[in-house]
Amino acid sequence: MLIEIEKLSKVYRMGENEVHALREVSLAIDRGASVAIVGPSGSGKSTLMNIIGCLDTPSGGSYRLDGKLVSSMNDDALATVRNRQIGFVFQTFNLLPRQSALENVALPLLYAGVSRRERREMALEALRKVDLVERAGHKPAELSGGQRQRVAIARALVNRPSILLADEPTGNLDQKVGREIIALFRRLNEQENVTLILVTHDREIAQSARRQIEIIDGAIVSDRGN
Ligand SMILES: Nc1ncnc2c1ncn2[C@@H]1O[C@H](COP(=O)(O)OP(=O)(O)OP(=O)(O)O)[C@@H](O)[C@H]1O
Ligand SMILES: [Mg+2]
Repeated sequence: MLIEIEKLSKVYRMGENEVHALREVSLAIDRGASVAIVGPSGSGKSTLMNIIGCLDTPSGGSYRLDGKLVSSMNDDALATVRNRQIGFVFQTFNLLPRQSALENVALPLLYAGVSRRERREMALEALRKVDLVERAGHKPAELSGGQRQRVAIARALVNRPSILLADEPTGNLDQKVGREIIALFRRLNEQENVTLILVTHDREIAQSARRQIEIIDGAIVSDRGN
């Protein structure tokens, strides 16, 4: 099992108040799975994604990734796991405006200490996987919305992660382009064997994943297709 989560909770303390963003969530996800997480605004979807992606730590419960107990790791150890195993795609693309597509995609490799030449080769390879090699020299402003998201997906893939996490990846795209991005995720999941977990408000997109998990008020209320 790639992801094993048991009785995971997350409590945000806001002065006198406590927000229970996750309430004893238990969940197991196989390597190579494709999972859609759905649920109303504020239900805890992004909180769960951030913990799975090692961007945040839980308040209670356990999280094992590839057999390693991630939930007890310190920030440095978490950063290492994140760099090696996780690719993140966001609704707002989060590209650096002054850097080319190639430079944006290569950025995670810079932090990982990869040589300049290898960075270029690996970034081109990732751009090839999203069919965007011919735009390698373009800056984000010189790309369409769908192309920007493909650059962001290439950046997420460049470290060859085992998990691709996408939080509302089509939220800023029109329906047609959104469908193309979802088709790309499907292809990456099937051909590159990357485990895909995506958050969406769109029913049709949720159905494109093999498994659908619904979260309401910090708890899983349904888990279908598993
Ligand atoms: N950093 C934070 N500090 C305090 N409360 C937070 C923080 N992040 C999230 N919350 C609260 O935790 C709950 C879950 O938030 P989360 O962002 O996970 O929801 P979501 O399901 O992703 O919603 P949306 O669909 O609107 O993105 C919400 O009530 C939110 O207000
Ligand atoms: Mg969210």
